[in-house]
Order: sequence, then C-alpha cells, then structure tokens
Amino acid sequence: MKLFGQGRAALADDPATAGRLGWSLRRRSLPEPEVILVPRSGDPHREPWIAPPWFDPALGLHALRRKAGRRRTWSYLAEVPGVLRCLARLAEPPPEKGWCIGVAGLGRVGGVAATLLAATPTGASGIRELVIHDADASNQERWLLELGSIARWRGRSACPVVRSATTRELFLRCDAFLFAATDSVPPPEARGEVRLVQFDPNRSILNDFLVEACAVDYAGLFLIVSDPVEWLAQAAFHDSNSDSSGCFTGSGLAPERIAGLGLGVMWARALAAARRDGIEAAVARVGAAYGPHSTEVIMFDDLENPNAVRSERLTRAARECNFKVRDLGHLPYVGPGVSSVGLMVPSLLAGREVLASVLVGEIYFGAPARMAWGIHPTAHRMTDGVWDTIAGLHEGLRSQARSLELQWTAPYPRRGAVS
Ligand SMILES: NC(=O)c1ccc[n+]([C@@H]2O[C@H](COP(=O)([O-])OP(=O)(O)OC[C@H]3O[C@@H](n4cnc5c(N)ncnc54)[C@H](O)[C@@H]3O)[C@@H](O)[C@H]2O)c1
Repeated sequence: MKLFGQGRAALADDPATAGRLGWSLRRRSLPEPEVILVPRSGDPHREPWIAPPWFDPALGLHALRRKAGRRRTWSYLAEVPGVLRCLARLAEPPPEKGWCIGVAGLGRVGGVAATLLAATPTGASGIRELVIHDADASNQERWLLELGSIARWRGRSACPVVRSATTRELFLRCDAFLFAATDSVPPPEARGEVRLVQFDPNRSILNDFLVEACAVDYAGLFLIVSDPVEWLAQAAFHDSNSDSSGCFTGSGLAPERIAGLGLGVMWARALAAARRDGIEAAVARVGAAYGPHSTEVIMFDDLENPNAVRSERLTRAARECNFKVRDLGHLPYVGPGVSSVGLMVPSLLAGREVLASVLVGEIYFGAPARMAWGIHPTAHRMTDGVWDTIAGLHEGLRSQARSLELQWTAPYPRRGAVS
C-alpha cells in the first residue's frame, strides 16, 4: 500500500487526490498515520464525504442498528471538490490547548448555553476559548461583560476565555460553531407549530453565516441549535452546496461536519417523567430517543425490551413539556440551553456518545451519535418493533424534506459521465 501525506492522516493508493492536496509519498521515517483513508464511491448528496472505519455509509438508516464490518481504514469521496479542504484539516493535529467554540445568537437559549460553557473549566470541557457574536451590538457587549464575570475563587483550573467577534472572525478562529440566532420565537401563548414557522426567517439568517463560512473555507463543525433544528441542518448542507440555479457544487460544508443539537432536552424531559415514575435509572441505561426536536420525537424506555405504555408516557412527556412551560407564560430555554447544548458540546468534542441530529438515510435525524471527524449515528441493538417505529418516522421526515425542496433531485454525475 502506497501512503501519501506527512500528517496524522494519509491517503492510501490515491496519487491523484494526493497530488491535488500537494501531499507527497509518506516518508518511511514517520510513524504510522493515525488515520489511513481509502477512496470510496458514493453519493455526496446523501452521505458523509469522509467516514471513520466504524461507520458504513452504505448501510443508510440501518446504521442505527448495524455496525460496519471490521475495517481499519477510513473512506472518502474523492470526487467532491470540498473534500480536499476536509482532508487537509483532518491531517492537522487536534487543537493542543483546547477547542475554540463560536456562539452566534446570545438570546435565551444561546445565553444559557454560553453561560454553562463559560463556567465549565477547560480541563473538563476541552474548551479554551468561547467566541460570541450577536446582531444586537449592545446585547453582544452585555454578554461579553456577563460571561467575562464568571470566575472561581482561587481555582486552579481556568475557565474558557470569552471574546466577541464578527461573523468572519468567528469562522477564522473557531473549531466548532453554534448557530443559536433567530428572527423571533412565537410568544408563550402561541399554540400549534412553534418551530417550523421559524424556518424561512431563520434560514435566511443562516445563509449569511454560510456565506461567511464558505468565504474562508471553514472546515470546522457547524452545529444548529435554532429551530427547526433538523431542517436548518439540512439547509446548511443544501444551501452551502448549491449554486445560484440550485445545482450541487460540493464545495460547501461537508454533511458530516453539520449536526443539530435539540434532542438532548427532549431526552431530559423524558427522563424527568421516568424519574416521577421511579424508573429513571433503568431508562437512562437502556432507553433512547430518536427523531427531530419537534412533536414527532419518539422515546423508548428500553430498546431491546420496550414497554409500549412506558415508552408512550416518555414520548408524551418529551413532546408536551414545551407547551407546559408556555402555559405558565414563559418560553422554555433553560433546559434546552443546558441539556441540548451546554452539557452536550463537551461530550461531543471528547468523542463520547451524545444525542444529535446527523445525516443518516439522506436526512438529518436525531439519534445517539459520536464524533470521529464527522458526527455519525452509533448502532444500538433494538427490537424489530422499535426499528419499524423509527423507520416509519424517518420515512415521513424524508418526504417532508422533499416537499421543502431541501434535497437535490438530479442524480450526482459520476466521474466520466457525459453531461
Ligand atoms: N435546540 C434546542 O434544544 C432548542 C430549544 C428551545 C428553543 N430553541 C430555538 O433556539 C432559537 C433561539 O431561541 P431564543 O429563545 O434564544 O431566541 P431569542 O430571541 O431570545 O434570541 C435570539 C438571538 O439571536 C440574535 N440574532 C438575531 N439575528 C441575528 C443575526 N443575524 N446574527 C446574530 N445574532 C442574531 C438576537 O439578537 C437574539 O439575541 C429559536 O429558534 C428557538 O426556537 C432550540
């Protein structure tokens, strides 16, 4: 096997891509690369551009219940223009002194999330710097002062340094970016759909960030917190990779570097119900959450031995808690900022399993997931009944993605195909 590249990642037997990257034959004096990548063929409209050995994109949605066969090598789609930027970034050493995280939108949810991240010592979170940005200059200044006022009395472990930045600077500095901005959230008395109604205005705000990210060849993580979480994640992939006539360019964000963070609070709401029923410990161990940050989310008390009544109670609790807080005249944001983001991001960065909405079976879908360069779903044993429920939900969301025109309809032209 001929290896190309001198960094922590190397390409195997692909001199053409290595040439485009400017990577030469690996020197024999260097240690074994941590990551060996082989080219794979696949559809970059619908699957990760780079995948770790434990994740097989060909499994589609079945990746939620089946592990990839034993392999040592990673795989990548050599034909996608944007994969070069990703490979170059993957070959760099991970940030030595900790991650730099950007937060755009310091409102209720973004503010609580940033507070928790700013109060967690770097030694525990892996985050050395928090860079904040808000369209409202005085709000941004306020949060800079507030977050800058978080410190311990003679503590040994430092908390992250907090700075503010323009959108361009955010993408130049950050390893991961959190999108928590919104045009507006329906007021507490609003009933019915309170998330999807934010799609058009928030997609438009998101687009300004995508333009900036692409302008500086951003290859960091792009994490969506704003609603509707999954559709905005899908839009981040679609819109950053479409030209003005809607055709796929493949030069935008890699799909596996985008994820939605909204399932954490749904799970926390289900666990609160389990606690009331005296079954929290068991549910926390063998239960799970799947689906979107919406009233379609589903919970299971036990993936391998589900109890329909218990699962239904947990699902209902997850779906309804939002409205219970609203009935009291408030918008829910503490649970979301803490459970979906503040507690989730450090685990995600550490490579532990989290709950996130990731590209699986063509759409962004909430599931247990783990980061290895990209964020991919992790496989869990489950009964056929559980699988059927998840697959049914996924199918419904897939057709919704088509009706929202968030997918490319033309097939990806294979190399050598006549256009
Ligand atoms: N993922 C979750 O778990 C979860 C849970 C609850 C709510 N949410 C969603 O999170 C989003 C934020 O909710 P919120 O209550 O914090 O809203 P908010 O109105 O309190 O805050 C929004 C912030 O975004 C800022 N903003 C607006 N346009 C901007 C731009 N172009 N650039 C930078 N900043 C901009 C505003 O100035 C404001 O500070 C909403 O979409 C909400 O539905 C997500």
